[in-house]
Amino acid sequence: MSFLSEINRRRTFGIISHPDAGKTTLTEKLLLFGGAINEAGAVKSNKIKKGATSDFMEIERQRGISVSTSVLAFEYNGIKINILDTPGHKDFAEDTFRTLTAVDSVIVVIDVAKGVEEQTEKLVEVCRMRNIPIIVFINKLDREGKDAFDLLDEIEQKLGLKVTPLSFPIGMGYDFKGIYNIWENNINLFSGDSRKDIEDTIEVTNLASDELNTLIGDTAANTLREELELVEGIYPKFNQEDYLKGGLQPVFFGSALNNFGVRELLDCFIEIAPKPRPKQSEERLVKPEEEKFTGFVFKIHANMDPNHRNRLAFVKIVSGVFKRNTPYLHVRHNKKLKFSSPNAFFAEKKEIVDISYPGDIVGLQDTGNFKIGDTLTEGEILNYKGIPSFSPEHFRYINNADPLKSKQLNKGIDQLMDEGVAQLFTLDLNGRKVIGTVGALQYEVIQYRLEHEYGAKCTYENLNVHKACWVDPEDEKNDEFKDFKRVKQRFLARDKQNQLVFLADSSFSLQLTEQKYPTIKFHLTSEFN
Ligand code: G4P
Repeated sequence: MSFLSEINRRRTFGIISHPDAGKTTLTEKLLLFGGAINEAGAVKSNKIKKGATSDFMEIERQRGISVSTSVLAFEYNGIKINILDTPGHKDFAEDTFRTLTAVDSVIVVIDVAKGVEEQTEKLVEVCRMRNIPIIVFINKLDREGKDAFDLLDEIEQKLGLKVTPLSFPIGMGYDFKGIYNIWENNINLFSGDSRKDIEDTIEVTNLASDELNTLIGDTAANTLREELELVEGIYPKFNQEDYLKGGLQPVFFGSALNNFGVRELLDCFIEIAPKPRPKQSEERLVKPEEEKFTGFVFKIHANMDPNHRNRLAFVKIVSGVFKRNTPYLHVRHNKKLKFSSPNAFFAEKKEIVDISYPGDIVGLQDTGNFKIGDTLTEGEILNYKGIPSFSPEHFRYINNADPLKSKQLNKGIDQLMDEGVAQLFTLDLNGRKVIGTVGALQYEVIQYRLEHEYGAKCTYENLNVHKACWVDPEDEKNDEFKDFKRVKQRFLARDKQNQLVFLADSSFSLQLTEQKYPTIKFHLTSEFN
């Protein structure tokens, strides 16, 4: 197969949702269709289960399985599909944001009863900012839920999307009869039998004919006709160009658990979803079909075995062909590296591959060379953009509890930060280290891993910080900036890239500071240029 055909047949995407909406179930059903797994229950949920054990042990359990679910690849109708896994737990939102830099599109799963939930709002906002094409799947139609039109309204309002339904439910919950597929003009009748992998599809050539009444009964047929008329009147017609630009979002309805509406979603997805897209680097836009290999690290996974400190760096291939045992330039280190055993991922296993194409993810064994955001090329100096840090929600001083192990502690902190577990800020005033995290859980994880993987002990001390703001002065030499640095000295720190950060202790003080220093901008993300 030619290089171009290999690119064109790849679809790399992520499934995002609020926990419990059905992401794992949908993923599993997609894999079943692709023949990548044989039975339901084969995909382990990476979510943090509540109750049974402490949350912290759950994180370790999750870490153990998350390598195997990081990338789930399979073939369907000649298309190579790569699903990138995203953790649903809010404490890992940062992980998900980073994974979103490596997808070419997303499917958002929404629970028909719960509607748009908090995590979905945050994740979709990131997708919108990046114009990532989105397909919405409304799940659990076998249960009572919100009215379809109300839900579509809610999605438009809360998520800021412009939707167009490509399927429409016939009834819901107890009365759920099936789905009218607007995309293919047919009806699937719901049998509630989750073992069936293909539903009985009935072509409907003329909605006005009695055929529809015979299929679903007079009342349902009339309601469906009215609803479809409304759909046509209210929503724009589907247009692939708008979808690909992130300006229009098709919506499907179904029940992942019952395997219902999933094939329709998948069939439409492979037809409309984008092939690998060009990516912006600081230097230029890079196109997938360029001959020379380039890629970037979007995720680092540490070994679970503390005796083997090697890690797996996940690289998204942006352009060209990645080949085993070929020297590539690690741009940040200006050093050539060769990889003898790059991994490719499949549904249930990973294997060493000789060659990979744009859209694919390779896992590279790493002994500490990589950090998230690093770029690999054949020699060109390129730095891929777009893996920003967001202001953490929690801040604590980290102290060394064993003075003989300070070297180990520093190395451990360094490597855990490269993995993206948390963010490190070093205070300008006294060099003290502050760890910022999205969730409080990460502190326990860091403490545990420092001890078990690096032999270092730490303690924490509370610190009253509301937000970390990246400081962006209009003019570094003006008096205003000098005054700001002098007055706020106690609150200034450096992130790992040595960027200046203002640790505001309350939203009020941030507001006052902004007013007092109008030529300085304060950003809640590290990427603002
Ligand atoms: P997540 O990955 O988004 O967190 O959700 P997950 O797929 O684990 O699904 C959350 C719960 O919702 C699961 O039930 C799952 O069986 C159920 N579910 C998923 N899709 C549907 C659907 O279409 N209809 C109905 N009725 N339920 C659905 P659970 O009881 O929490 O877990 P389990 O014990 O069944 O695994």
